[in-house]
Amino acid sequence: MKRILVTGATGQIGTDLVEKLIEVYGDDNVLSCSRRERPENWVGKHYESLDVTDAKRFFEITKSFAPDTILHLAAVLSAVGEDNPQLLWDINVNGLYNSLEIARELDLALFVPSSIGAFGPSTPKVGTPQTTIQRPTTAYGVSKVAGELLCDYYYKRFGVDTRGVRFPGLISYKALPGGGTTDYAVHIYYDALKKGSYTSFIGEGTYMDMMYMPDAVDCIIDLMEADPSKLIDRNAFNVSGMSFDPSDMEKSIQKFIPGFSLDYDVDPVRQAIADSWPDKMDVSAAREQWGFDPKYDLDAMTKDMLEKLAE
Ligand code: SER
Repeated sequence: MKRILVTGATGQIGTDLVEKLIEVYGDDNVLSCSRRERPENWVGKHYESLDVTDAKRFFEITKSFAPDTILHLAAVLSAVGEDNPQLLWDINVNGLYNSLEIARELDLALFVPSSIGAFGPSTPKVGTPQTTIQRPTTAYGVSKVAGELLCDYYYKRFGVDTRGVRFPGLISYKALPGGGTTDYAVHIYYDALKKGSYTSFIGEGTYMDMMYMPDAVDCIIDLMEADPSKLIDRNAFNVSGMSFDPSDMEKSIQKFIPGFSLDYDVDPVRQAIADSWPDKMDVSAAREQWGFDPKYDLDAMTKDMLEKLAE
């Protein structure tokens, strides 16, 4: 990877990722694209407003920047997607289709995040295997499975170098997540500092995979730099840094803010989504095929999140 175009660059992942890409590959070689106008103080010098469903403009921008890789992050998340499944399909599937076609025509590598949302209630919940039943019950999940299959197809049929991971809930402090089910695990740190308490919309005992953003960013770069001959799974690798429920977070935060308290006001929509997702995935395929090795556990993440947010 030498010259990179990032879609959805101003989102939760993109905001951290672009900074790291600039550090590693140089400001000249990173183009940030987002539906938004260029935010004030945006880090990179190359920026384009782009709606990924606009195939013509997407193609022209890509051709003119001449990257070797697209990191395609533009997507609608799970909770927002249940409110507007039509918009979700358009962005998550048609936007990805445009990316795949551009990668095919211009011979580019393509990274696409899938998600724990690509699994459903009939998937084994604990030790969820790399290859298993994928019958999700959310619009988001359906779009992610379609995306995984499309990536597989473009690799096998056209030789496009597609790579991806199934991200768990991602926790970070630079940009907020945009309406997902795992967002409670971000909001809790903000409220811990502001109010000393948090009301969780996800119930006690609901375990989900999670990861701290520095590990997620490394994960994208490491996978894209991996030796392609070692990669057996082209749709998306299970990745996770930890698995916890809200009460585990409460205990972790109390180690740093002793008076912190947690109560619950469960949102039935997001709870049903969380209940349909795995508790803890098996990440051995990612470890074996490209050396996935996350650094942060829950307490290390809590310490860093609280310090960074306090600043
Ligand atoms: N964080 C995402 C969501 O909750 C899962 O991929 O929608």
